[in-house]
Amino acid sequence: MRIGILGTGVLAVGLGAAWTRVGHEVLVGGRSPDKTAAAAVRMGGSARAVTPADAVTGRHAVLVAVSWRGLPDILRAAGAADGSLTGTPLIDPTNAVEHGVGELLTADGRAAAEHVAGWAPGAQVVKAFHLFPADQWNEGRRPVTVVLAGDHENALGIAAALVRDVGAQPVVLGGLSRARQLEEVAGFVIGLAFSGVDPNSALPRVPATRN
Ligand SMILES: NC(=O)c1ccc[n+]([C@@H]2O[C@H](COP(=O)([O-])OP(=O)(O)OC[C@H]3O[C@@H](n4cnc5c(N)ncnc54)[C@H](OP(=O)(O)O)[C@@H]3O)[C@@H](O)[C@H]2O)c1
Repeated sequence: MRIGILGTGVLAVGLGAAWTRVGHEVLVGGRSPDKTAAAAVRMGGSARAVTPADAVTGRHAVLVAVSWRGLPDILRAAGAADGSLTGTPLIDPTNAVEHGVGELLTADGRAAAEHVAGWAPGAQVVKAFHLFPADQWNEGRRPVTVVLAGDHENALGIAAALVRDVGAQPVVLGGLSRARQLEEVAGFVIGLAFSGVDPNSALPRVPATRN
């Protein structure tokens, strides 16, 4: 697959490296050319540093992995407002939460993913990859389940394939309106973990059932 990654930080490099390992072609675009070049080197494989606009052109999927406050800037730099992401699956792993506290920072009660959809008109936004730390995508980790939310079947299918490619099991919770719930789960986990409580101890061990 041809993948674009916006962002040059820990998660961008973690997922970019995992996807290049399985043979995907990754273009990475960030606001700093030096950091973008360094990120491409850390991803390895065929990863190349380009501008944000080039990173979203002709891609089967784009991951936007920048901090919540940087999202409008990077999407603007990628030409999202002019439709550069229209029709493209856009994976949003953002945790728009206060560091160490977990409270959601989106001002109007909407999910970060819904804001991303507003900043990138026509993009097929999928919430994914926000719940696990980036080192989960290193080789040899125990398999986990990555829960997705999105409104577009095609984009959900592509995101699910990219989840499988990093050794995890994809599950679709529902449409993008469920993204807020997924983001609150991250806030819950972060809030407990940073206050010294194992989040797993605060969840019931409910057996899986089918309707
Ligand atoms: N790290 C994780 O384990 C993890 C796990 C799940 C989800 N996430 C989410 O993934 C996203 C990235 O996290 P991270 O840990 O990779 O962060 P990070 O290592 O701190 O990197 C942040 C990235 O955002 C960019 N950025 C910040 N402000 C910007 C702006 N105004 N314009 C353009 N780019 C800007 C930074 O660019 P510069 O370097 O040029 O400042 C950098 O590329 C966040 O939303 C985070 O909540 C992270």
